[in-house]
Amino acid sequence: MIMTDSIARINEAVGYIKGVVPQARPLVGIILGSGLGRLGDKITEQTVIPYGDIPGFPVSTVLGHKGVFIFGKLGGKPVVAMQGRFHFYEGYSMDLVTLPVRVMALLGVKYLFVSNAAGGINREFEIGDLMVLKDHINLMPNPLIGPNMDQFGTRFPDMTCPYDREFTQRAFQIAEEEGVRLRKGVYLATSGPSYETPSEIRFFSKVGADAVGMSTVPEVIVARHCSLRVFGMSVITNKANMDNDCAVLNDGADVVQKADASAKLMTMIFEKLIESIDNEQN
Ligand code: HPA
Repeated sequence: MIMTDSIARINEAVGYIKGVVPQARPLVGIILGSGLGRLGDKITEQTVIPYGDIPGFPVSTVLGHKGVFIFGKLGGKPVVAMQGRFHFYEGYSMDLVTLPVRVMALLGVKYLFVSNAAGGINREFEIGDLMVLKDHINLMPNPLIGPNMDQFGTRFPDMTCPYDREFTQRAFQIAEEEGVRLRKGVYLATSGPSYETPSEIRFFSKVGADAVGMSTVPEVIVARHCSLRVFGMSVITNKANMDNDCAVLNDGADVVQKADASAKLMTMIFEKLIESIDNEQN
């Protein structure tokens, strides 16, 4: 797709949304991963917009994903949450995968909270653990390939610190206060949709990955390109299999079920972090 088409598509979506929720000034954008949609229930004063109603928006088809924007309040702040995201493995171009991030940025969002279900590579991780992203390894195509959209950001955006240090620190404070265990680690993104072979998992482990998944990194790169502050969390839904043990197979339904059990905790952390955003800084 040529750039002018992409920009027209973004603007058309923004125009439609502003028509439906003219008063909405979301400060925080939230992307809910597989099985993590229940955070949406905590949002008050809701206006729900199905992606299918928005001109230019694709409709997500995957298990555990709904396909709506929820505008409203969480932790006392105006937010917009995406229940359902677009995955590269569904066949969408990177422009479409990341379209909602640019739309949220133009709606005024300054912070992006991302979540996903991921396979644990770090052997200390248990199923159901929550991992705060401290960094990522991108093995997908870069979503910024193509002419640079100068109105959003620079040609060569810095990626030294993609995940906000302050939010990370605060998340660990909250976990300590609440007596819950949080992990911290590096998220490696593959295109999927096939799960990894044991040799691939051993390789990812050697290069420093703690968890693996098929999403999030494109949205984070585009968010950093337009200077949003990012906080990310994975729910470890399975142990990525390094051992060629053919009795332990990956299964998408399992991913959704395990994510649900930890979604409550993640929701609490997101809510408290959003509550802690200093109004003076906005
Ligand atoms: N691999 C890739 N993506 C995933 C996994 C996994 O093991 N679990 C949840 N998403």
